Amino acid sequence: MRDWRPCAILILLATLLLPQIVHAQGDPSRGAQLSGQCEECHGDAGENRIEGFPNLANQNYNYLVKQLREIRTSARERYGEATRQQSAEAKALLRAKRSNEIMDPFVVELSDEDIHDLSAYYADQACNAVMVGAPLPAPKIEARCQVCHGKFGITKNSNIPNIAGQDALYLEQQLLNFKTATEMAGGAGNRRAGIMESQVRMLSDQDIKDISLYYARLPCR
Ligand code: HEC
Ligand code: HEC
Repeated sequence: MRDWRPCAILILLATLLLPQIVHAQGDPSRGAQLSGQCEECHGDAGENRIEGFPNLANQNYNYLVKQLREIRTSARERYGEATRQQSAEAKALLRAKRSNEIMDPFVVELSDEDIHDLSAYYADQACNAVMVGAPLPAPKIEARCQVCHGKFGITKNSNIPNIAGQDALYLEQQLLNFKTATEMAGGAGNRRAGIMESQVRMLSDQDIKDISLYYARLPCR
């Protein structure tokens, strides 16, 4: 009689490995090689130690890809490249106003493949960011944020960023950016994302400070 056991073991192994293969849409080991140029600001394996700069470790893949594509398109425009014949896609990426003088030079030359590989690498890193202080009680408005960002600031939805353990000053700056984006006439201003603009419209600057500190003190995993 034929022994099916080796075959059964192979199928079991394949099933166990499948979720990881599907997750890794970019090549994390090539991403690791490229990440040397990012380390100076985003830290070893994406764990930032500079105030006001974002952690990238354990950030969600789709979210990272979207941000890098937006930053790259704005950076190319800033450096005067291909502004005339923009595709509809490039226009949509530009509308996010994700350009940042500090980041632009490092992103402007990245290929799509580089962006996928770097994002896969950072999404795969465990995050052990040193806690900046004891956890704080959740502000009232947290009930709204958790619908999308997860109960403790970590979400499985790859299009939404994890915000737990993120740098407090960085969080505050981004929320203020979304807020001024709505306040400026004609849709000008920093960083546009309609979904977040409607969330921060009603928040005071103190609310923004409090919610940023609350999330900064949760573990980022
Ligand atoms: C000289 C410092 C510096 C270097 C080098 C650098 N970054 Fe950044 N990066 C920043 C800063 C500052 C921000 C925050 C920008 C803002 O406020 O919008 C940022 C933002 C980001 C974001 C958005 C994070 C988020 O949560 O939305 C990503 C993704 C990112 N960087 C990836 C990279 C990658 C990949 C590299 C290397 C190719 C890199 N960065 C190199 C300083 C740097
Ligand atoms: C309806 C879903 C939704 C809700 C509710 C929501 N967010 Fe967001 N948030 C998003 C999405 C999607 C993004 C990514 C936007 C982009 O692509 O730039 C985001 C981005 C952010 C960012 C930028 C993170 C980074 O790494 O740059 C911060 C900070 C943030 N949200 C905080 C909050 C807070 C605080 C609340 C509650 C007051 C909240 N969000 C409520 C969906 C939501």
